[in-house]
This record gives sequence, structure tokens and C-alpha cells, in this order.
Amino acid sequence: MVNITAPLRIGYVLFPAFTAIDVFGPLNVLNLVSITHNMTLSLLSTDLEPVSVDRTVINGAPTGMLASSASPNFTQFVLPTHTFASAPALDVIFVPGGAGSRNTNATQPHVDWLARRMDGDPDLRYVMTVCTGTALLARTGKIAGRNATTNKAAFNWVKSVEHAQDVNWIAKARWVVDGNLWTSSGVSAGTDMTLGWIEHLYGRNESESIRVMMEWNALNQTDDPFAEYYGLV
Ligand SMILES: *[C@@H]1O[C@H](CO)[C@@H](O)[C@H](O)[C@H]1NC(C)=O
Ligand SMILES: *[C@@H]1O[C@H](CO)[C@@H](O)[C@H](O)[C@H]1NC(C)=O
Ligand SMILES: *[C@@H]1O[C@H](CO)[C@@H](O)[C@H](O)[C@H]1NC(C)=O
Ligand SMILES: *[C@@H]1O[C@H](CO)[C@@H](O)[C@H](O)[C@H]1NC(C)=O
Ligand SMILES: *[C@@H]1O[C@H](CO)[C@@H](O)[C@H](O)[C@H]1NC(C)=O
Ligand SMILES: *[C@@H]1O[C@H](CO)[C@@H](O)[C@H](O)[C@H]1NC(C)=O
Repeated sequence: MVNITAPLRIGYVLFPAFTAIDVFGPLNVLNLVSITHNMTLSLLSTDLEPVSVDRTVINGAPTGMLASSASPNFTQFVLPTHTFASAPALDVIFVPGGAGSRNTNATQPHVDWLARRMDGDPDLRYVMTVCTGTALLARTGKIAGRNATTNKAAFNWVKSVEHAQDVNWIAKARWVVDGNLWTSSGVSAGTDMTLGWIEHLYGRNESESIRVMMEWNALNQTDDPFAEYYGLV
């Protein structure tokens, strides 16, 4: 277990068309943990405008996947609490993945802010990525030589982003831990990783009590059927 001084300050990096469960699966775990542990949550974006979930809507205009969608009004939005400029000190940063992570121009402010925080911020204890969120982290150039994983359906794309060639990509893993860097496989894997991280922070009793409360059928760190499914091993 880890000695954490309260409150544990958690921040999420949001961009248009992040994947819903990448954010809300881990948050479901953390919402339950926060009942008994003192924690703060910040939702960060370039500005305070609502951020679209799973589909890209910028300034009210559907773009990307949504523009050609059969259901242009099938949308949800999340309200950020802070901009990158007003982001508070954080102990933990979560980066989700999703279709929007492929828009390297739109996510450049996110990558730049991550790079600054990863460059010797004394408060920062953990960086956690879910799915193609690892692509944003790789683009910072700050995880050279580190072990990491990402979404198995998008593995080869993530390996092609700027600076990704310097990362030691682990194909078969539900999630990978390298020091303070926790990276998970696609979509649902972020919730398994978060439960594993809660075990690391507070012990297995804590993670198990949350898991059974959620009725979550977890996969463990080495159990990754999707690496084979996508032909990576
Ligand atoms: C949580 O932490 C804050 C900051 O240290 C403190 O002011 C507050 O009293 C704590 N809340 C509880 C319920 O312990
Ligand atoms: C989507 O919503 C807009 C605004 O309410 C409406 O004008 C439009 O008809 C809706 N489109 C569909 C396909 O329902
Ligand atoms: C991204 O930005 C570059 C440099 O400003 C520009 O050349 C390119 O067209 C942009 N791409 C998209 C998809 O907007
Ligand atoms: C990184 O992965 C390699 C296998 O590719 C392993 O030997 C090494 O122990 C891992 N390092 C860490 C810090 O987990
Ligand atoms: C975990 O829970 C079990 C059963 O509820 C209990 O016997 C054990 O003492 C607990 N361990 C810790 C570290 O709290
Ligand atoms: C993880 O799951 C795999 C496959 O079910 C199993 O072989 C392995 O023993 C499990 N490892 C742990 C640490 O529970």
C-alpha cells in the first residue's frame, strides 16, 4: 500500500470524442472510493465549453465520425471544471482514449499540457492512460524507454504517432505498470486497471469491495485475450 496524504487530487484530460467508458468506468470506481477517501476531481479541457462524448461536436457543429453518422443527435456532453491554464496541482492524471485522440491537431494543447506536467512537476504521483490515451502520452516524448500498452485494435496506429518508436510497447497485457506510469488496453480495460490501482493504493479488500459493489467481472493484469484476437502475439 502507498502512503497518500489527503486529499488525493485527480485530473482527467478531456477532448472531443473521448470514449465514454474510458472516463466513466474508472470514474465509477473512483466515485465509490471517494465515499471513504478524501479525493478531488478536476475535468480539464482547452476551455470550459461542454466536451462531446464519443462523437465530435465542436462549437455545436458535428464533425468527423458524427458528420456521417446515422444519428447526428445521439450525443452527450461533459462540462469541464478547469481549463489547462487554470488546472490545479494534481497527484494523478488520467488520459482517456477514443476517436478524438486521432485528431492530432485538436489534441496538441492536451499533449503540450501533459508534457509540461510530466516535466518535473513535483506533485505528480501517477499518470494513467486508457486505450488510445497512451498515444497522447507517447506524443509528449516523455515516456521514451518506458513500458506501455494501448488499445489492441488501434495498436499499430498508436505505434506510428510521433515519439512512439521510443516506447517499449507491450502487446499482451490488460494493463502495464512502469513506475508511476499505468497504461491500459482498450475501452473496458481502464476499469480493470483502476481496480488494480486501487488495490495498489489501498489494498485488495478495498478494490474487491468496490468490484463486487459494481458487480464487475474483472480481468487481471496478464489476462488479455484481445492481443491474440487482433493478431498482435
Ligand atoms: C478533505 O481534505 C481537505 C483538504 O485537506 C480538508 O479541508 C477536508 O476537511 C477533508 N475532508 C474530510 C471529510 O476529511
Ligand atoms: C437534430 O436536432 C436538431 C435540433 O433540435 C433538429 O433540427 C434536427 O431535425 C434533428 N435531426 C434529426 C435527424 O433528428
Ligand atoms: C493540422 O495542422 C497542420 C499544421 O498547421 C496543417 O497543415 C494540417 O492541415 C492540419 N490537419 C488537419 C486535419 O486539420
Ligand atoms: C518492461 O518490459 C520488459 C519486457 O519487455 C521487462 O523485462 C521489464 O522488466 C519491464 N520493466 C518494467 C519497469 O516493468
Ligand atoms: C480483508 O477482509 C477480510 C474478510 O472480510 C478480513 O478477514 C481481513 O482482515 C481484511 N484485511 C484487511 C487488511 O483489512
Ligand atoms: C490471471 O488470469 C489468467 C487467465 O485467467 C490466469 O491464468 C492467471 O493465473 C491470473 N493471474 C493472477 C495473478 O490472478
